[in-house]
This record gives sequence, structure tokens and C-alpha cells, in this order.
Amino acid sequence: MHGSLRASLPKLLILGGTQEARALAQKLIEQAVPVAVITSLAGRTDKPRPLAGQVRRGGFGGTDGLKHYLQAENITAVIDATHPFAAQMSQQAFTACTDLHMPRLRLERGSWQEETPALSEFLKPSLACIAADLPASARVFLAIGRQDLAAFTGQRSCWFLMRSLSRPAFPQGVQGKCLVQGPGRTLYAEMALLQAHRISVLVTKDSGGPDHKIQAALRLKIPIMIAQRPPPPPGLGVKKVAAALDWIIRLLAQEQTSLSNHQHAL
Ligand SMILES: NC(=O)c1ccc[n+]([C@@H]2O[C@H](COP(=O)([O-])OP(=O)(O)OC[C@H]3O[C@@H](n4cnc5c(N)ncnc54)[C@H](OP(=O)(O)O)[C@@H]3O)[C@@H](O)[C@H]2O)c1
Repeated sequence: MHGSLRASLPKLLILGGTQEARALAQKLIEQAVPVAVITSLAGRTDKPRPLAGQVRRGGFGGTDGLKHYLQAENITAVIDATHPFAAQMSQQAFTACTDLHMPRLRLERGSWQEETPALSEFLKPSLACIAADLPASARVFLAIGRQDLAAFTGQRSCWFLMRSLSRPAFPQGVQGKCLVQGPGRTLYAEMALLQAHRISVLVTKDSGGPDHKIQAALRLKIPIMIAQRPPPPPGLGVKKVAAALDWIIRLLAQEQTSLSNHQHAL
């Protein structure tokens, strides 16, 4: 922990882009936890939903850029609440915090596989493996992000349904359709979508969190292919926002105690 006496609130950097990051920032502000909250977004979304606390956007410039930012902003601790598949950012956060001896916590939601062990039979090592295993002429619901499409661009024999939060995104060399649809759709809406487009395979990533598309595919007996998560970075990790909040409150209390001890010793 930074040893110097503090004239202002300690600062927390939340690496965001997820519901968990949003909920954590909201709870810290609502509960008036004595910490300045900065959420960092990669800047992939044109109009991100408003967030509690301060927000910064854009990459840091690799591990060295992140280390520079953490020092320049006098950050006290980092919560890596990025998406389970944002492995590069997580690794960089781990390395930067380790090098700077800065407290860091990984907040990563539980996987679908942990919640429903039966789903493990559908797991594949990567999207590239899934693309290679797709049956010819399949009608595929590709429930993945824009950044993951490259694995499927050579797949000319299949038809793909995709969806995007904000604007249609369809790669060249792939045939199909892109819908603009928000999250939070019901089980019946997801079943209707799969049926309306005569989907024969659901492809997704083990992102975890609330989601009805897998249940919809299971009910309709549509085959599912799920890309498994990259391994989490080393170090302490929690799955729930409440656990991350407890960790932050404990850390701030420890810092306050060491600050008081230091002042008494002077
Ligand atoms: N991957 C997914 O499936 C997915 C799904 C939903 C949301 N997201 C969110 O979208 C963002 C990008 O995901 P990704 O998979 O492209 O990440 P990634 O591959 O792990 O990271 C690529 C680069 O993007 C920058 N970056 C990533 N997250 C950042 C953040 N929160 N703040 C500032 N810079 C960030 C970093 O650039 P520098 O090296 O220049 O620092 C990083 O090296 C993440 O914040 C993630 O939480 C990802």
C-alpha cells in the first residue's frame, strides 16, 4: 500500500465493461464508501450506459502504460472486473499491480458451466475449434461479440444469425443477418428467435451471468457449442459484487489503521 500520508480520499480503479463493474461502482457510491471511484472502459461501445463515479475511456498502452497511469493517478487499489474473456487486460492488470506491489482483486462472474455442470458436454477449447467443427450448411446463431467474428470469416457453407447492441455488424465473406437487440430477453423471446430463423446450432462463449438463450436451445433440442473461458489471472478472485465490496472495505480499514499508527508514531 502507498505509504505516504493521504490528504485526499484513496482512489480505486475499476477495470470495467461489465455489469459487475457497473454494479460495484454504483454500490460504492450509494453506500458512501470513502474512496474515489474511477471506472475504466476500453472504449469499444459508442454510447456506454452512464456509470456512477468517474469514468475514463481507452487503452492504457499495455502494461507499462497501465503502470504509468496507476502511479500518475496515485491509485490505491485495482479491481479487475473485466469480462471473463478479456484475458489480455486481466493479465496486464496482474503484471502491473504485482510490479507496483499494489492490491488487486479479480471480480469475475461464475461460469455457466459451474452453475449447470451438464453444460460441460458442450464446451470447446476455442471459437476457432467451433468454427472448424460446424456442420456444413448449418444455420448458426452466433451469440458472440463483434471482436470474435474473425474465427468464422472463412466459413462460407453456413448461414449466421448475429445480434449487436447498437449497430449492425456483419463481416465480409459471411452470409447471414445481424439484428440490433438489447440484453435481458425472456426465455420465450429467445425460443421464438431460434425458431423464426430455423437455427440448427447455437454458438456462444461461457460468459456466465443471466441469459436465456442456452435454456431456449436446450428446450428446443438445438445443439449448442460453447467456447470455454481462458484461465483467470493468478491471485485473489471473487465472483460476486458483494464479496468485492467487502474486500474493498477491509482494505480501506487496514489502510486507515496503518495511517493512524503512522501518525501516532510521529
Ligand atoms: N471479450 C468479451 O467477450 C467482452 C464481452 C463484454 C464486454 N467486454 C469488455 O470489453 C472490453 C474489451 O474487451 P477485450 O476482450 O477486447 O479486452 P482484451 O482483449 O483483454 O484487451 C485488449 C486491450 O484493450 C484495452 N482494454 C481492455 N479492457 C479495458 C478497460 N476496461 N479499460 C481500458 N482499456 C481496456 C487494453 O489496451 P491497452 O493494452 O492499450 O491498455 C487491452 O490490452 C473490456 O473492458 C471487457 O470487460 C469484453
